Amino acid sequence: MPDVRIFPDLEGASQEAARLFAAAASEAIADHYRFSVALSGGPTPRRLYQLLAAEPYRSQLPWGQIHFFWGDERYVPANHAESNYRMAKEALLDHISIPVDNIHPMPTDAPETEQAARVHSAELQIFFDGDICFDLALMGIGDDGHTASLFADDPALTVRDKPVAVARPTSQPTDRLTLTYPIFNRTRRVLFLVSGQEKALVVARVLAGDAAYPCTGIQPTGELIWLLDQAAAASLGEVK
Ligand code: 6PG
Repeated sequence: MPDVRIFPDLEGASQEAARLFAAAASEAIADHYRFSVALSGGPTPRRLYQLLAAEPYRSQLPWGQIHFFWGDERYVPANHAESNYRMAKEALLDHISIPVDNIHPMPTDAPETEQAARVHSAELQIFFDGDICFDLALMGIGDDGHTASLFADDPALTVRDKPVAVARPTSQPTDRLTLTYPIFNRTRRVLFLVSGQEKALVVARVLAGDAAYPCTGIQPTGELIWLLDQAAAASLGEVK
């Protein structure tokens, strides 16, 4: 059973996410001297990133030992309004003292998405010395039940032999890169942050185990925590 925590609003859920981020960082750094995180995109995590960029986290977190990756990326230039990297850069990375080598965006400048996926897969293999295991993955859920860029009916869902896949969701304007199920499911801690009434039904269905939604396939061997605001939690208990 996942650990589901409900907060009055996104602010409360984001505060808890920041606290859990800091606790996971201390634990990982005490254990293996660094903390590797896969960030989520979309608008929801922006407030969390802003909190991490503010006191007390800005001064207290050991940024030199923290490495940022992304769970998924839209295939747009790094300065594009839709870029997940750009959102995290503006909300967090530009405000902390972190070595540039600790920031590992998914590349979006190769002419072919498949090539970019290969380049990033190689970067992950080198960073993790062949055994890719993030300390933390921050995740969100779309109202269609996608998470990262794992969309229903997209071939990226079935990729098991590569850490990074190309997603071509018909519902989205651009191709995307995404980490694959095997990578998310080997992550030590997965933290979903979800806000809004429009997510309520899908959250209830995913938490009830409905396999029609890609998000239900995120079943890490490590810890799985859902942080919901009250609106996103509104249908829990209505769906069995
Ligand atoms: C992206 C994502 C994606 C996101 C969901 C939910 O690039 O779109 O990383 O999986 O988490 O779309 O986004 P929101 O929670 O911001 O609605």
